[in-house]
Amino acid sequence: MKYCIANWKMNLTISESILFLEELQKKNLQNTKTKIILCPSFTSLNDINNILFSNNIELGAQNVHQELKGAFTGEISINMLKEIECKWVILGHSERRQHFNEEDVIINDKLNAVIQNGLNPILCIGENQLQRDKDETFSVLKSQLNTALYNINIKNINLVIAYEPIWAIGTGVNATCKQIDEVINWISEFLLQEFSIKVPILYGGSVTSSNCSSMLDLEKVSGFLIGTSSLDVNEFYSIYSIINER
Ligand code: PGA
Repeated sequence: MKYCIANWKMNLTISESILFLEELQKKNLQNTKTKIILCPSFTSLNDINNILFSNNIELGAQNVHQELKGAFTGEISINMLKEIECKWVILGHSERRQHFNEEDVIINDKLNAVIQNGLNPILCIGENQLQRDKDETFSVLKSQLNTALYNINIKNINLVIAYEPIWAIGTGVNATCKQIDEVINWISEFLLQEFSIKVPILYGGSVTSSNCSSMLDLEKVSGFLIGTSSLDVNEFYSIYSIINER
């Protein structure tokens, strides 16, 4: 299975989200080997769900709280997401780590709650420019994975990992195929050795329809987590079509 995941971040209002999905569903989405996951804002999720009819599109949230209910003003619970048929949730996105102080231990709590309560996690990991310059990429990823996956029963669940180097997110500068290949192979080996799991690993960071084709030549790349290029339905569909051609 390949994945084409849209992370709309804090973009697209409800009406814009509906328009996007209406346009997307007019296109040929028959390929069952590629799963589209749309991750709109919380406010759009329910409306999007109401007009969703394609079996190849699923819904994801961009965040969720680790507690199941209670006095957590401003937060959204797992059951609230499940009630509107949201199946996936992005965890550990670098913007949440950076701007909302989400550390690996919180991500571990969230991952635990999500898995135990039947949502599928898309776990994001990645190094920043300074860490890459200092040759710390693998130690950073190792620590992110070890803490996030600590004490979690990850066998038989739909965990997806997204490798997103922070320096490539929203910058227009994507990682090169060589860099992606090196890191994704390392992640795959690490997960097999340390956790005995084989999961889909995606790349994210300035993916476009012009640069994604060569990335798909890499054996271990199972698709993309797409920010900027997912805001335009034609551009997003082009990337989906390129994944399907493989
Ligand atoms: P980008 O964002 O495609 O705009 O670089 C990717 C992401 O943040 O998931």
